[in-house]
Amino acid sequence: MDDLPKPPAGSCRPGKYPACAPDLTEDESELFAELASGKMPRRDFMKVMSATGAGVFGMQMLTQEKISAQTADLAEGLAGNSASALPSIPVNFTINGEAKSLDLDPRVTLLDALRHKLEMTGTKKGCDHGQCGACTVIVDRKRVLSCLTLAAQADGKEITTVEGLANGEGLHPMQEAFIEHDGFQCGYCTPGQLCSAVALLDEAKRGEASFVTEDLDNPPTELSDDEVRERMSGNICRCAAYPQILAAFQQVHSGRETAHTWSFADEAELALIRKEFDHETV
Ligand code: FES
Ligand code: FES
Repeated sequence: MDDLPKPPAGSCRPGKYPACAPDLTEDESELFAELASGKMPRRDFMKVMSATGAGVFGMQMLTQEKISAQTADLAEGLAGNSASALPSIPVNFTINGEAKSLDLDPRVTLLDALRHKLEMTGTKKGCDHGQCGACTVIVDRKRVLSCLTLAAQADGKEITTVEGLANGEGLHPMQEAFIEHDGFQCGYCTPGQLCSAVALLDEAKRGEASFVTEDLDNPPTELSDDEVRERMSGNICRCAAYPQILAAFQQVHSGRETAHTWSFADEAELALIRKEFDHETV
C-alpha cells in the first residue's frame, strides 16, 4: 500500500485512492494498484476480484470511476470541446418568447442548457436532484423541474423562466405581491417559487386536483391555503418565507388584498425595544 497514491488529509475515497481501501490483503492491494496504474484490463480485474471475494468493493471502485468519467465527459460536452462527448443533437425551443436553436449533447439537462449555454442564470441550481424546486421553470404552461428534464425533451416547446415573467419594466403581479408581502429573504429559492406560483394560477384555472383535493370529480378552481401549501410543497425555502409566499399567492389568486403577515413596529414598541436593548438607533 505504500506505493499507492495518498489522498489529501480528510478526503479518503476508496474509488479514487486505492490506498483508502479498508483492510485489504496484500494481494488485493496489489490488484488495486495494478488497476490504478491502468495495466490490467477491467474485465480481468473483475474476474480476479470476484475470485478473491473482493467483488463488491471492486464493483464500487469501478462504478465510482465510471461515474467520474461520465461526469467529466458531460462537463466537457457542455463546454463543447470533448472528443468523448456524444454526437450533439439540434434542439429548438422558445424561451420567454424568443426562438432559440442549440446543438447539445443529448445528456444535457434543461437547467444546464439554460444556465451554461444560454447564460440565463435566473433559474437556480439547488439540489440538482429534483428535491428543492429551485430550478422550476414553466414548459407549455406547466411547472417543470429543469434539473430533471433533458433539454432535448423541451424540443419544440415554449419555456418561461423567471427572466420572462416581467413585462418589460413592469413586474408580473406575482413578483409585485412577493415584494409587498416580503416573500423572500436570501432569494435563492425565489425564481423557482415565482415560476411555480405563476404556473399554479393556470393549474387552478384548469381545475387540476391535488393530493389534498377532497372531491376529485370537482377539483376547486379557488385554492384554499391547504391546497396552495400542498401544491407548492415541492418548492423548499430555507429562509422559511412560507407564510409570506402563501399570502402573496393568495392575493394574486383571489384578486383581493391579503393581510400582511408582518407589520412595522409602532413608536411604543420601538421605545420598548430601545429600553430593553439599550440601543438608541433602533
Ligand atoms: Fe432541481 Fe433542486 S435543483 S429540484
Ligand atoms: Fe432564502 Fe427562500 S428566500 S431560501
